Amino acid sequence: MLKGKHIILGITGSIAAYKSAVLCRLLVSAGAEVKVIMTPLAKQFITPLTMATVSKNPILVDFFNPENGEWNSHVKLGEWADLYLIAPASANTMAKMATGVADNLLLTTYLSARCAVAVAPAMDLDMYAHVATQRNMAQLKQDGVHIIEPGSGFLASGLIGKGRMAEPQDIVAAVEAIFAQSEKCAEASEIENPEKKKSLEGKRFLVTAGATIEPIDPVRFISNHSSGKMGYAVAEALAKRGAEVTLVSGRTAIDKPQGVEVVNVLSAEEMYKACVERFSEMDGAVMCAAVADYTPQVVATEKLKKGEGDMSIALKRTKDIAAELGSKKREGQVLVGFAMETENEEQNAAGKLVRKNLDFIVLNSLRREGAGFRGDTNIVSLIDSREKVDLPLMSKSDVAEHIVDKIESFL
Ligand code: PMT
Repeated sequence: MLKGKHIILGITGSIAAYKSAVLCRLLVSAGAEVKVIMTPLAKQFITPLTMATVSKNPILVDFFNPENGEWNSHVKLGEWADLYLIAPASANTMAKMATGVADNLLLTTYLSARCAVAVAPAMDLDMYAHVATQRNMAQLKQDGVHIIEPGSGFLASGLIGKGRMAEPQDIVAAVEAIFAQSEKCAEASEIENPEKKKSLEGKRFLVTAGATIEPIDPVRFISNHSSGKMGYAVAEALAKRGAEVTLVSGRTAIDKPQGVEVVNVLSAEEMYKACVERFSEMDGAVMCAAVADYTPQVVATEKLKKGEGDMSIALKRTKDIAAELGSKKREGQVLVGFAMETENEEQNAAGKLVRKNLDFIVLNSLRREGAGFRGDTNIVSLIDSREKVDLPLMSKSDVAEHIVDKIESFL
């Protein structure tokens, strides 16, 4: 239910903030992507380092980074999120939300959020019972905010009563219920408005992802570190916009994205055949796989036995799939490549852009922390014949959205 969902977790100044780490971990383990916004006071209760570690994303507190002036856009955050969950929500923050006060990033993002919003209140029993808090909560409910009721029990003050933030697993259950309800509404609105189209409806795309496996003998192979995450994120982003997507996937350990046809392959040769066969029916292709450039000349039928001395394996070149599709590309088709570099990054990427007849290339460098293989983030530049756009560190699913935006500009 939460797989691939974008959730902003807002944390306000409350002792219950210690539970936010567990809550965040539960959301991430359920497959959600979580970005955390903290109020300045929340940092006194739980450290940004803890929350950055469990969310796998940098923490947002201020409107901009004072070191380099980089702007934390509340508008973009509001657009990114499928749900804004504020847990714990203090009486102070709920009062500001109810009246539209926007004096920190958590609150400006609330005013910009187009998604569902939920709050899990946490405070002392008298504050919770106070007529002002109850009035503010009633206002929030009327504004469409979901209230995840606090529990009763021992409070930080030593008193016993209602005001304890709901337990993390109960908040996750409430979040799942909110998504289930909104999916039902979306289905109902699709039935009511069948003519409402997504931007890539009717378009077909081929995406390659993951690592190829080049067998040496029945036991050993040559491969690389690609997990498939980047390519799967691109396939998912295209499918979300209504495209029909065929994902030609090398070996990965990740789940198949929703609504995507997956063709599993192992070697570069198998990937080549699967892509070349299908390309003519496509409106575009995104070549994200890390394909072996060389494969053993001969695959031993029995396990190679070790001898006394060293050994060497003769390798031959594989076919370049992207270059082959580039040579077959017809008017109107968009071809996107990736470049994984470790030196002379821009120069090498620009060479591949031309040699493979790509419309644009996504450059990622292993020299940059947070970029490339395996992790959930990437740092890329989108390069075409006219311009180079550098994107900051972001999740692979956000990178995928930028790639799909650029693809749309070529269609
Ligand atoms: O899978 P992840 O762990 O998420 O990691 C993502 C990634 C690092 C694998 C991805 O972001 C990436 O950079 N993929 C391309 C890796 C690569 O092989 O780059 P390259 O510079 O060697 O190849 C250039 C382009 O030609 C790529 O689009 C590649 O798919 C394509 N190619 C390469 C060789 C070949 N025989 N056929 C090809 O189509």
